[in-house]
Amino acid sequence: LSEIDKNLIQNSIRDVKDFPKEGVVFKDITTLLNNKEALQTLINHLEDRYKSYDLDYICGIDSRGFIFGSILADRLNVGFVPVRKKGKLPSTTVCEKYELEYGYDEVEIHLDAFPKKNPRVLLIDDLIATGGTAAAAAKLIKNVDANLIEACFILNLTFLNGVKKVKEHTPVYSVLDI
Ligand code: PRP
Ligand code: ADE
Repeated sequence: LSEIDKNLIQNSIRDVKDFPKEGVVFKDITTLLNNKEALQTLINHLEDRYKSYDLDYICGIDSRGFIFGSILADRLNVGFVPVRKKGKLPSTTVCEKYELEYGYDEVEIHLDAFPKKNPRVLLIDDLIATGGTAAAAAKLIKNVDANLIEACFILNLTFLNGVKKVKEHTPVYSVLDI
């Protein structure tokens, strides 16, 4: 990814101060999604990186990981699997609790989320902060007997050191480190 393309993507993400509470600078990706040049540059880059990975599924984290994950799954001609916040998935699930930058939550995956045996899975989310969400999602993927190949993030908030936590479970790639 060239510096020009990195800047195009980074400049398309809006900072919103004090959301959802005082002291948090919220990274708003809606302004990346509504910018077709930035969005296409990003997805082309991810397609380029992952087309040789021989993936079977993209697993996206509720809710912003669904958007990037679904677009990429279609590009790579693979299926999409959601990791959801507790209580949203209708069938039998496995569950993990985790700590957020601003609170606690639980995530779940369907026990039969990956119909293929020993599938190669990429985990994707828009952003890694403390790494709690992605580490919990990584554990879920492994708990249902899938091979987690890598975790991918558009934005890495480096000052929160989340990558360290997720690296205990899988290799990590981030498009932008800020
Ligand atoms: C955000 C973001 C990641 C997570 C990162 O989602 O999209 O999933 O927080 O934080 P962490 O690295 O500290 O765990 P959020 O839980 O706000 O849900 P949303 O996508 O539905 O807004
Ligand atoms: N999730 C956790 N921290 C965040 C932040 N600063 N901006 C957007 N999403 C987040």
